[in-house]
Amino acid sequence: MSSIEALFSAASKARLSAYAPYSGFAVGAALATDSGAIFSGTNVENAAYPVGTCAEAAAIAAMVVAGQRRIAEILIVGEGDALVTPCGACRQRMREFAGEDAKIHVAGTTGVRATFTLGALLPEAFGPSMTKAGPP
Ligand code: THU
Repeated sequence: MSSIEALFSAASKARLSAYAPYSGFAVGAALATDSGAIFSGTNVENAAYPVGTCAEAAAIAAMVVAGQRRIAEILIVGEGDALVTPCGACRQRMREFAGEDAKIHVAGTTGVRATFTLGALLPEAFGPSMTKAGPP
C-alpha cells in the first residue's frame, strides 16, 4: 500500500466517526510522520459553534500524544464538489510541525483530488524559527 493509500484509508475511517451534528459536514484527516507512523482525526463540533475542532487538529493532537513532532504529509477527506482544503487555522497548526515542502493531499470520498505543498497554501508563514525562543 502506498503512503497515500494508507493515509486515505485512515482518514476515511476517521471520518466515519465525525461528530458534526450542526454542519452535517464530516471530515477525516490522516498524517504521516517522518518515521512513517500514521495518525488520524475527525471534526468534533460543539453547540457553542466556535468551540468545534477540525479533523486536522485532532490528527495533530494524536501525533503529539504519541511523542512525535514531524509531519511528512497529510491527507484530508470530505465530500462535495468543492475541494476540502484545510482552514487557515489548521494551515498554521500544520506549520508548527511541517516544513513548506510537506504535501497536503485533498481527497473526496473516492480518492485524492489535488495535492498542494504547505508553502503553497500558507505562503510567507510565521513559524517556530521566528519566535524569540527559536524552534523547539
Ligand atoms: N472542517 C474540518 O474538520 N477540516 C477542514 O479542513 C475543513 C472544515 C470541519 C469544521 C466543521 O466541523 C465542518 O468541517 C464544517 O466547516
